[in-house]
Amino acid sequence: MKGTFPTDKFQRLKTPFYYYDATLLRNTLDVIKAEAAKYNKFCVHYAIKANANPKILSIIRESGLGADCVSGGEIKAAIKAGFPASKIVYAGVGKTDWEINLGLDYDIFCFNVESLPELEVINELAAAKGKIARIAFRINPDVGAHTHANITTGLAENKFGISMKDMDKVIDQALAMNNVKFVGLHFHIGSQILDMGDFIALCNRVNDLQEKLFARQIIVEHINVGGGLGIDYAHPNRQPVPNFAEYFATYHKHLRLRPQQTLHFELGRSVVGQCGSLITRVIYVKQGTNKQFAIVDGGMTDLIRPALYQAYHKIENITSDESPETYDVVGPICESSDVFGKAIDLNKVRRGDLIALRSAGAYGEIMASGYNCRELPEGYISDELV
Ligand code: LLP
Repeated sequence: MKGTFPTDKFQRLKTPFYYYDATLLRNTLDVIKAEAAKYNKFCVHYAIKANANPKILSIIRESGLGADCVSGGEIKAAIKAGFPASKIVYAGVGKTDWEINLGLDYDIFCFNVESLPELEVINELAAAKGKIARIAFRINPDVGAHTHANITTGLAENKFGISMKDMDKVIDQALAMNNVKFVGLHFHIGSQILDMGDFIALCNRVNDLQEKLFARQIIVEHINVGGGLGIDYAHPNRQPVPNFAEYFATYHKHLRLRPQQTLHFELGRSVVGQCGSLITRVIYVKQGTNKQFAIVDGGMTDLIRPALYQAYHKIENITSDESPETYDVVGPICESSDVFGKAIDLNKVRRGDLIALRSAGAYGEIMASGYNCRELPEGYISDELV
């Protein structure tokens, strides 16, 4: 399907590469800001893990969002992109000493603590620096999300967070420590969630836990409900900006916040997912026994989601208007799972055509690997292709 991409400008670029539509990203950020601003004390952080391309980070930082990090490397990327440390939250089940020290040195806003041993180490390392670390406990709410098994995180069987039954105990421990300040509770139930009922289930669980804390005269300043809002992979053009109005309204309606409490979000996929595409070139069209293959120069090393999660990404031939034929679109990697899509209708494909894998702005470029000694794909943003 011709027409939606600046294909003339693509011709001089080495494929495969990621292409990001800066206008769509800015529109998405404007909607997030406007919708969150309707409610008092809603505070949005961008989950750096979805895409840490420096050009993307700088546009997001300009919009004023905070940063949600899960490693020392992400903290460095956030700081380099100009996110203020006072807006950085840091989660992760396996924070190493150097990563905790980095967070302490920058005086980041909050450590989301996932276990008692981690709490003890943060307290020790903060003491050694004469600092007090702000901490929130990541509570595993045992709420299932209707999404792929590999990307649910809030079930009791998952490795994330502290179980609800241990909440009181860890809070008591934290209150007794000198170098941590307990400021909040953190939750995250999973990713690519489109059913608002899943978020409502989380709200109900948080309300119950808050009641238990009130009974002990504890009111935390910060509630962080993580991320998870999904995007429409099947129809990337139908609603390129996700329904943030409905998402924030759901939390406003169902979560009982106390006046002094701030509600934090950590959105990744919904911020950057639809603005990015992987652009790849057809190397060969090969006739198989009962099918034909479009063999492209991008593979699972560039976009691993189809191989890893059987994820669907819409595939388009952006340099052909000829009548459609059916293809298996496959990459060059020596793995049979290196398939982007089977039995896909595409405008007739010829060697040299450009193919777009849509909705690849989140968990695309950042998950690329060098398997088969391949180079990592470049990322270009529309602003720089003038
Ligand atoms: N907060 C926490 C604690 C998380 O674990 C995640 C994602 C997020 C926020 C952001 O969630 P989002 O708004 O993007 O759904 N690689 C997988 C997705 C893994 C998500 C991991 N955690 C994929 O390609 O679908």
